[in-house]
Amino acid sequence: MGKSKAAQLEALKGEVEKLSASPLYAYRQENGYQVVFGEGDPGARLMFIGEAPGKQEALKGRPFVGAAGRVLDDLLQSIGLERAGVYITNILKDRPPENRDPRREEIALYVPFLRRQLELIRPAVIVTLGRFAMQFIFEELDMPQQGGSISLLHGQPLEATAPYGPVAVVPLFHPAVTFYKRDQQQILKDDFQVLKSLL
Ligand code: URA
Repeated sequence: MGKSKAAQLEALKGEVEKLSASPLYAYRQENGYQVVFGEGDPGARLMFIGEAPGKQEALKGRPFVGAAGRVLDDLLQSIGLERAGVYITNILKDRPPENRDPRREEIALYVPFLRRQLELIRPAVIVTLGRFAMQFIFEELDMPQQGGSISLLHGQPLEATAPYGPVAVVPLFHPAVTFYKRDQQQILKDDFQVLKSLL
């Protein structure tokens, strides 16, 4: 029998840890940060994809454990889910300095790992958190919504084809938007109800 999914994911994480070609590698070492590879159920039906780890995430080596993570936890709870029952990751596996936008060459280095995560986990539903992850998945799966606006597309399950088969892609606003736009809190809550119907 081949290695379990969990073991293969763990091996991939080890590869990211050694990725000294990354422009973010030295920054990680200098600050005592960790790789934030992703966590959850390797057999999850739902996979959440954010942009990049923030400081709290890099310190703990876990995705969405800062303020945005608390919002995500509440939203998951609102539809009866726990973190352990889904898989949560980001496009970038290392924190960019001062949370600046990921650069093209950084994305190019980390994306093969996200592709492998998708291939191993084979989620039936890919939930993108924020504009950046949404556009990335639209391009990656060559979806007709490329270039579309998150304001119009959020909360809608979109049919797409992943290399392993059909998937529903659900773009959501990033949980951090609720910090500066209070009305988005209700929108995110409502959009999560859509996820419930896809479980
Ligand atoms: N924002 C993200 O996009 N990802 C995290 O892991 C934390 C905050």
